[in-house]
Amino acid sequence: LPRIQQVCCIGAGYVGGPTCAVMAAQCPDVQFAVVDTDAARIAAWNSAALPIYEPGLEELVGRQRGRNLHFSADVEAAVRTADLVLLAVNTPLGQPGADGLGMAPPGLRSVEACARTVARTAKPGAIIVEKSTVLCHTGELIARILQDHGPPDGRFQVLSNPEFLSEGTAVRDLLRPDRVIIGGQPGSEDAQEALRALYARWVPAERIVTMGMWSAELAKLASNALLAQRVSSINAVSAVCEAVGADIAEVARGCGMDSRIGRDFLRASIGFGGPCLSKDLMGLVWLCESLGLHDVATYWDQVLRMNDAQTARFVRRIVRALGPDLSGASVAVLGFAYKAGTGDTRNTPAALVCGELLKLGACLAVYDPKVPEQQIRDYLVAGRAPATGLRVCASAYEAVAGARAVLVLTPWPEFAALDWARAHRLMAHPALAVDGHRILDDRALELLGFSTVSVGVRSSIADS
Ligand code: NAI
Repeated sequence: LPRIQQVCCIGAGYVGGPTCAVMAAQCPDVQFAVVDTDAARIAAWNSAALPIYEPGLEELVGRQRGRNLHFSADVEAAVRTADLVLLAVNTPLGQPGADGLGMAPPGLRSVEACARTVARTAKPGAIIVEKSTVLCHTGELIARILQDHGPPDGRFQVLSNPEFLSEGTAVRDLLRPDRVIIGGQPGSEDAQEALRALYARWVPAERIVTMGMWSAELAKLASNALLAQRVSSINAVSAVCEAVGADIAEVARGCGMDSRIGRDFLRASIGFGGPCLSKDLMGLVWLCESLGLHDVATYWDQVLRMNDAQTARFVRRIVRALGPDLSGASVAVLGFAYKAGTGDTRNTPAALVCGELLKLGACLAVYDPKVPEQQIRDYLVAGRAPATGLRVCASAYEAVAGARAVLVLTPWPEFAALDWARAHRLMAHPALAVDGHRILDDRALELLGFSTVSVGVRSSIADS
């Protein structure tokens, strides 16, 4: 079996950083070099202020860095000595329309660039692993680049090892993954076995599955599509709840107790966001269209449309509750990250809600425990929202002071635990509480004097 003593991970982002930190902790005899062309990001990984927030990550990196975990901007130097190269670069969607399909094709530019670097620099026999989420047959593309640009005796092995971590729980997910998938073409069994042996140090054998390359690539896309579909399904039911006077929390409980359905991922919300679910769904839709599977493409596309509709309906309900003239209305926004446990704001539904309210003239006071002020400003400006009415606050209480309404847009536990009586005293009256994630106790808030609007439950003020 190929012996793996040095691992190089290209891409020091939300996947590359935490993955190698956990692997380094579990494999003390293996050296891990995490490299990136973004020198500022690498400098942050080498500092006390890591470039991303994940619970438990700071301690983990602190323990391993300088021992068997290194961060560097010298990509080629790290690739040159690696026995195994992980490709964990970003794969953003490309420009729609260029290929005649009218939708965004998957962005493989970074993956291709890495494959060329690897072909030029890696040592013969190195194992190249797709960790980025890619469309089916990307492994073939990588293998071809390696063959065309590499040395004649290169004989690189290409594997697919998609990552299933969830932001906000990345360290826990990496330490105790539900499954590790290792895909390869016939003939790559030794390479698959070598990667399996690395994971087997801490992952139970029955959770490590090997399969064909295209199955592994598709398993990742399909997993995200199924997760997104589940969110859109429960959100679709939440719309019915609001109309008929049912409560989505009760309905979800009633459904989730069926073991065939299960309880997880059945929380209604303002819609999913983040760097993966929408992007991967769009990638799947593109793939289906390119294969001529139009009905299948339409099916998955509807999951995305349902998500957009959910956020839009939420905004309409806020506007109905506050009255049509929002100019100068003071609104507190609690949470801006796309989910709790992370400072990531990529594709966050909170930005859509804030952007719409700013366009209607509202004055927003935003607080998020993990998202820096500039990141909030940049994101809204990039979405062409007028930033004049925006104030970023250092606490939830500062944000609610003087506000007519408070919106919970990220389900951070600290918002559920807020002293809501104090918040009510600080706000203008009548005060409105809008819960985009069903983490607040509506009844308790109403007893304090709030009007309430919640996802998945009828509101006298928003749905009459
Ligand atoms: P990211 O954007 O946080 O990190 C990617 C890094 O790759 C960036 O720092 C960028 O500078 C670097 N990079 C890009 N091109 C490069 C090149 N040619 N050479 C060297 N470095 C380069 O992205 P993230 O979130 O870590 O995602 C990476 C991949 O993993 C994507 O395909 C994503 O779909 C997938 N994924 C992401 C998950 C998440 O929760 N963020 C979970 C599972 C998979």
